[in-house]
Amino acid sequence: MINRHISMAALLAVFCIALTAHAAEKPAAANDACAFPTAPLATQEETAWRIFVAMNCKASSGALTWETWTTQACLNNPSDCKGFGRFHQSQLRNGSGSDDPKRTQGCSPMTVSGDKHLLDPFVPTNLSTKPVFCEEVTVNQPEMDYARPKGLLSANGQTDYLFSQKGTITFPTKAIEVKVDWVPASSFTNAKFDCTKRNGQIYLEEIEGVCYAMASVHISSKLYPNWLWATFEPQYAITNPNRCNLALYNACYDPWGSDPAESDGRNTNTTPALQALFTDAGTALDPAFQNYRLTGTQTEFNQPETSNAMLGNSFTEFNAQVKPQEASCITCHAYAQRDANGNTPGGGAPKGDAKIGTPSILTGHKSLDFSWFLGFGVPTQACQDINAGPIFSNNDAKTKCPAVCAVALRTWKGQWTTTEPGVQSVCGCCL
Ligand code: HEC
Repeated sequence: MINRHISMAALLAVFCIALTAHAAEKPAAANDACAFPTAPLATQEETAWRIFVAMNCKASSGALTWETWTTQACLNNPSDCKGFGRFHQSQLRNGSGSDDPKRTQGCSPMTVSGDKHLLDPFVPTNLSTKPVFCEEVTVNQPEMDYARPKGLLSANGQTDYLFSQKGTITFPTKAIEVKVDWVPASSFTNAKFDCTKRNGQIYLEEIEGVCYAMASVHISSKLYPNWLWATFEPQYAITNPNRCNLALYNACYDPWGSDPAESDGRNTNTTPALQALFTDAGTALDPAFQNYRLTGTQTEFNQPETSNAMLGNSFTEFNAQVKPQEASCITCHAYAQRDANGNTPGGGAPKGDAKIGTPSILTGHKSLDFSWFLGFGVPTQACQDINAGPIFSNNDAKTKCPAVCAVALRTWKGQWTTTEPGVQSVCGCCL
């Protein structure tokens, strides 16, 4: 539980971490449990758990390790690189059709009765009148190091790379993408989250003055050719009443960490192997994370076999309005593709194409390597103007612009313009 805006010093520390994200990957307590696996383990469930624990280990700043990674919000909007972990509206929730990531600095409405007929039976009975959830997407440094030099951090750059340069996108094995959903107590009629007290059931964190609970964690890792897809939820009925409900998406299946391996929403025990991993992480891992369970994993289109290739998170996919029995991480993400005009299918399978199992081939499209982050998480153009205060000459620009761009994790390519003489100039900052 950290207040994200404690002091200027903390903010500065955050900038430094953002700028030297390699260093930020090192956890505070350097033990094995806080190190990311560099090869697949004996089972994909173990790989998933080891990533979950390592990403949630506290970094030296006190933030969770994944919170120190580059956020989608920062890539879309330079001013969101100041501070960290700012929310963006769920692109999946925004629905199909739009390829324009409109970040609102905000939260999205949760699914309520009447939104989508088929979801009605699963709408929690304890929602307040206008419940919201708040999403964050971050990607680790190996993913940034691959994407940036190829120009993949803008939609136009991707189209150029795929169609003019005839490149193919294959992220390195160390690449990890994370999506986390937070929810405030005000979304429920019966919730009280107190960030000043330890809560053993769900991880709490104060963000911009509000105490949020972490209701869902999505992970994808390129340790497997089609990535590893894994999703976690807390055993906490106030926020996740439909966890493991097979009538919605799927029962839970985790032969490595859960006893019993298959479950339908009742609390399960941890296996000795998982308990040993928690013990190894020690104080670097908030105890609340021990109450999370793995909903399931996929590395191939026919998994999990126990749920006929369906896998969804009862919080994230439900609030993104994915219909019952229509969630498969790997299948939906396989549609992360662009055509020569730069268009992507709207965040999932186009009408009539397979939602579960083997995805259909889309004509004229090229693969973004399963990354909807590339499809939705980046701006159209690589370069954006950022306010720099007054700039009086080329020499003045040379002293001011590199720093202005660096704060926004961008680089200065020599462009600047005065927008209001003596008052405001802008630097052209590029991803
Ligand atoms: C119906 C389609 C769909 C399904 C099903 C789906 N996703 Fe996604 N996912 C998306 C879209 C679209 C985004 C981009 C949203 C954003 O960045 O705001 C996304 C974002 C993500 C991200 C952040 C990085 C990125 O690529 O944008 C991760 C990680 C992720 N999903 C994992 C999963 C996992 C794990 C599951 C299954 C439990 C899953 N997804 C199910 C469509 C889907």
